[in-house]
Amino acid sequence: MHGRAMTKSLSLEDFDRAARRRLPHPLYAYIAGAAEDNLSLGDNRTAMRSWNFVPRTLRDVSGRTMQTELFGTGYSAPIGIAPMGLSALMAFEGDNLLARAAANAKIPMILSGTSLIPLEEVVRHVPGIWFQAYLPGEAARIEPMIDRIAAAGIETLILTVDVCVSANRENLVRARFSTPLRPSIRLAWDGLTHPRWLIGTLARTFAVRGMPHFENSSATQGAPIFARTAERDFGAREAFSWEHARLIRKRWDGRLILKGILSADDARIAKDMGIDGVIVSNHGGRQLDGAAAPLTVLPAIVDAVGAMPVMIDSGFRRGGDVLKAIALGARMVFIGRPFLFAAAAWGEAGAAQAISLIKAEIDRNMALLGVSSLAGLDRSFLTRAEP
Ligand SMILES: Cc1cc2nc3c(=O)[nH]c(=O)nc-3n(C[C@H](O)[C@H](O)[C@H](O)COP(=O)(O)O)c2cc1C
Repeated sequence: MHGRAMTKSLSLEDFDRAARRRLPHPLYAYIAGAAEDNLSLGDNRTAMRSWNFVPRTLRDVSGRTMQTELFGTGYSAPIGIAPMGLSALMAFEGDNLLARAAANAKIPMILSGTSLIPLEEVVRHVPGIWFQAYLPGEAARIEPMIDRIAAAGIETLILTVDVCVSANRENLVRARFSTPLRPSIRLAWDGLTHPRWLIGTLARTFAVRGMPHFENSSATQGAPIFARTAERDFGAREAFSWEHARLIRKRWDGRLILKGILSADDARIAKDMGIDGVIVSNHGGRQLDGAAAPLTVLPAIVDAVGAMPVMIDSGFRRGGDVLKAIALGARMVFIGRPFLFAAAAWGEAGAAQAISLIKAEIDRNMALLGVSSLAGLDRSFLTRAEP
């Protein structure tokens, strides 16, 4: 249906333009934006330039594979879909759509705690998805949520630890984006001028599913996405501490991962208290502006935690970027915005196309590097770029 236009997206960055045309501006700005002056957003990309490749030649790479093993599960590639809130506002049933695209491609996908489809439905739809929670620093509210996640059959729980307060996103104020979305003439105009989103995503959602709510931010259903007054409940996130992480570790038998780690000391604390893995992340530059680009702190974190799996996200767009992180010791690289842009622009076919584009880049670059498996890639394939 949209095959010809979609194939104009030749790399992950190209989906940005396609989604910009499809989405009302406030929604596009919510995905694309970052905190304050976009310092971390920019650094996430320039960090990729801080390492250059030292390829090896004349090695038979005809049998190469990017097969990845993590937590006892085999994946087709070392990439996954990062958790993104409000996905179902960007594409019809966006969370189910991304989960399906990930499962079909045999890569992991993390369902956001700020999603609009009940986690029970998504996990029924696609068993094996990982779930990300934002939790308050209150045992009485943590415990029922953990029990809900366990009862749903989720096996891998990610705690995002870099959102103790909401970020300063001036871009959202300028774009007039807020949650809940407040109905206004301007919002209505934005919808009318983006009819494919209005009909294909918003009207279809209301017709099929009714008013979307924040379904997964606590043990019970949260606020509706459109409301004149309702305040979104950020809960007592400021009070969340290692003590609560310990409590969760005791109550949760599944795999527990911390997302938003940038300090080797924090990674060490996590390991010592029985956390199963960390995702090194600055939230795509959307939280603390000026926070280090994850690639620059990755080696110190890998060195600090021994065998505990270290994963990473923020700013990865090319197969070469992914391979740099793998060479520095990352076990999985998560990617955010481009997959949601692809889903917003072209639905499940778009998400599948985005996954296959970056897989093709990883495959080609493995050949050009002279490696046949990801295990064969280490720091000897990298040299620090001249500043
Ligand atoms: C639209 C959007 C929504 C996000 N929502 C969440 C979320 O609910 N929970 C979370 O842990 N991270 C969230 N993130 C951060 C991503 O999981 C990830 O850390 C980041 O997008 C990676 O950077 P990249 O977009 O440059 O690939 C969100 C990011 C975007 C772009």
